[in-house]
Amino acid sequence: MKHMVVEDADNLESCLCQVGKVFDIPSMLSGPQARPQIIHYYFINRLTLLFYNWDGFFHYGISRNGKYEADDHKAHVRILEGYVRQTNAKKVMELGSGLGPNIAFLATRNPRVAFDGVDLSNKPLHRHAKLPNARFCFGDYHDLRQFEDNSYDIVFVIEALCYSTDKSRVLREVRKKLRDGGLFIVIDGYQRDRAKPLSSSEEAMWGLIAKSLACETIERVDVVEDYMQKEFSVVVAQDLTERVWPSLFRFEPLARFYFSHPAFARAVNTFVPHDVVKNTVHILLLPISVQRQIGCYFIHVLQKDG
Ligand SMILES: C[S@@+](CC[C@H](N)C(=O)[O-])C[C@H]1O[C@@H](n2cnc3c(N)ncnc32)[C@H](O)[C@@H]1O
Repeated sequence: MKHMVVEDADNLESCLCQVGKVFDIPSMLSGPQARPQIIHYYFINRLTLLFYNWDGFFHYGISRNGKYEADDHKAHVRILEGYVRQTNAKKVMELGSGLGPNIAFLATRNPRVAFDGVDLSNKPLHRHAKLPNARFCFGDYHDLRQFEDNSYDIVFVIEALCYSTDKSRVLREVRKKLRDGGLFIVIDGYQRDRAKPLSSSEEAMWGLIAKSLACETIERVDVVEDYMQKEFSVVVAQDLTERVWPSLFRFEPLARFYFSHPAFARAVNTFVPHDVVKNTVHILLLPISVQRQIGCYFIHVLQKDG
């Protein structure tokens, strides 16, 4: 299988060397990534997000046949729609709703369901915000006081919970908002739970991936599952890593080109904002982390017991 490569065949050390010729690695690794940095990162990258996906989906695609297709970004919402219909949900909330594409897709196809989105830094695209059964609010998912308790059938989050350094608090907040039996669906990336500790280069790689995505740290899946189990019953825990593989590799050749021409890259860095160019770091390193069985991607379906 493609990802079963021998460690070191991926040239991690030389990739880190290349990154070091273009970015100040120690300062990237030590820089904080809290609320102000997350807000700034998403503000600066608004156009980048649209270049990534015109509908505003800012998450990896889940592919079916080992080949990337534009439609793969809708796989998440198709899975969610299955739960919306199966549970006959009337009220659904998304945490970290970004430019609003997930809610827009679901709200258009499920007009009798009311959708609320909450995001810290991104406003929805105008075309998504106009839907009558969709409401987008500004807020931090660590504090959901503005939403009614015990009223949601489903709360979901796609590639946004990784930004929290206090996931237990988010889980408690979501629990309060769900009705008994309600579902919290989390689709996100993690560090894999593995026996072998990370080498120092792998630690540096993992830290750089997190910081280049404006995350303070990307936690281990088993650690997050422990938090989940304290508040919810875990109904589904499915590893989707292989299926995000094609989408992870989509822009990798661009990053390889950028880092193999350091003079050109440094020139680009003088006029493109740091929060935009730093994306090249995770584009280069995330595929390596997955090949090394370090990065992983999961869906968890959690249920609030009555
Ligand atoms: C990778 S984007 C994903 C956006 C969207 N879920 C999607 O699938 O397209 C992560 C989003 O999480 C939001 N976010 C990060 N921390 C947050 C917080 N504490 N509260 C609310 N939103 C947050 C960011 O503003 C950003 O829009």
